[in-house]
Amino acid sequence: MRLSFFLLLSLFLVSCSEEDVNSGYEAIVENDTLSIEIPDYFPEVTYNFEANPPTEKGFELGKKLFYDGKLSSDGVVSCGFCHIQDFSFTHHTHIVSHGVNGALGTRNAQPLQNMIFMNEFTWDGAAESLDAQPIIPITAEVEMNESFSNIIDKLQADEEYPQLFAEAFENGEVNTDNMLKAISQFLVMMVSADSKYDKILKNEGSQFTAEEEAGKVLFDQKCATCHAGVLFTDQSCRNNGLPIDPEYDDEGRSRVTGLQADKYKFKVPSLRNIQITYPYMHDGRFQTLAQVLDHYDSGMVVTENLDPVFQQNENLGISLTEDEKQKIIAFLETLTDDNFLLDDRFAEF
Ligand code: HEC
Ligand code: HEC
Repeated sequence: MRLSFFLLLSLFLVSCSEEDVNSGYEAIVENDTLSIEIPDYFPEVTYNFEANPPTEKGFELGKKLFYDGKLSSDGVVSCGFCHIQDFSFTHHTHIVSHGVNGALGTRNAQPLQNMIFMNEFTWDGAAESLDAQPIIPITAEVEMNESFSNIIDKLQADEEYPQLFAEAFENGEVNTDNMLKAISQFLVMMVSADSKYDKILKNEGSQFTAEEEAGKVLFDQKCATCHAGVLFTDQSCRNNGLPIDPEYDDEGRSRVTGLQADKYKFKVPSLRNIQITYPYMHDGRFQTLAQVLDHYDSGMVVTENLDPVFQQNENLGISLTEDEKQKIIAFLETLTDDNFLLDDRFAEF
């Protein structure tokens, strides 16, 4: 039987008390480190918790920042504007993301989940660390279009933030480093590990239906080379044969590496909560999982660096009958984690 265990961050960190630097008197603020529950069948964490341990106050500050339009130039577009919890922190109504003044990005907002296990971030792996990732949306013209110095000015002038920074960090400063650390402390807590699929692995009494079970067998045969392991991604960048959209001509990974061999490769996405993170693919071109499976079965085209996995048979792609598609979708739906999607800790209100 599998037992889940708690990754107790407090094992290597004593919970810290801090002096309140902003008020005239010395108030000691309790600021406990937070622990994260991770099933034992999950991979090793990649996030450097020692450099930035999540604490109660840091998490609360990070959450306030995540949902605050002050981080953008128009005062409206917060992180949470594009990353909506009900949809595993994706931007549901928009195919590509919408930023300040309705400016359009070129990519579909990614879900925010299980980031502490990832090596690189964004669709092409442009961000190598979670702490640095928000620099991209904050400064991008089509996203939040703001500068760090402006944000820090706004936060310093705010009625609440100086106090919250003072409580969350030892040096108490309202600065970019602490702001990014606080946002990360909010993001690292987002672990989705309690779907039906997980409940089965944890032996909690759930069982696959016959259709889901058959879908799992098909998935393991046809999809798991790339959507591998319990996070359903091998974290590599690959080309899965999408016809090139001439409007964007997004070259993917090669924009990061400059290598021709990386052209049209995108990060293999995790499929956790996939039922509700539509639209799909880096540019949100498919609305339904049925359309995604039609693509793998019959919609693929040969573009530069198409993955060899799709060129093994006489037919391009992965042949699937209608019945097989349905079974795979039934399996994918067992990856929906309502406890994560409805977790109060992450909710805006
Ligand atoms: C205008 C919409 C928008 C806003 C605002 C926005 N994001 Fe994103 N986010 C995206 C899109 C689109 C991507 C995919 C980017 C890419 O691949 O280039 C993304 C990707 C990410 C990722 C990478 C996830 C992964 O698994 O690789 C993280 C983390 C993230 N955003 C956090 C944030 C934070 C924190 C903020 C606020 C500081 C924020 N985002 C603001 C749209 C947005
Ligand atoms: C050779 C590697 C590979 C194989 C095999 C593969 N995929 Fe993918 N998959 C990818 C890549 C890469 C992407 C992202 C492509 C993009 O957006 O440009 C993707 C995207 C997806 C998405 C969209 C996810 C999202 O968040 O938008 C779904 C759903 C999906 N794949 C399901 C499957 C299923 C089901 C199978 C088996 C029938 C499968 N894949 C086989 C590499 C693969």
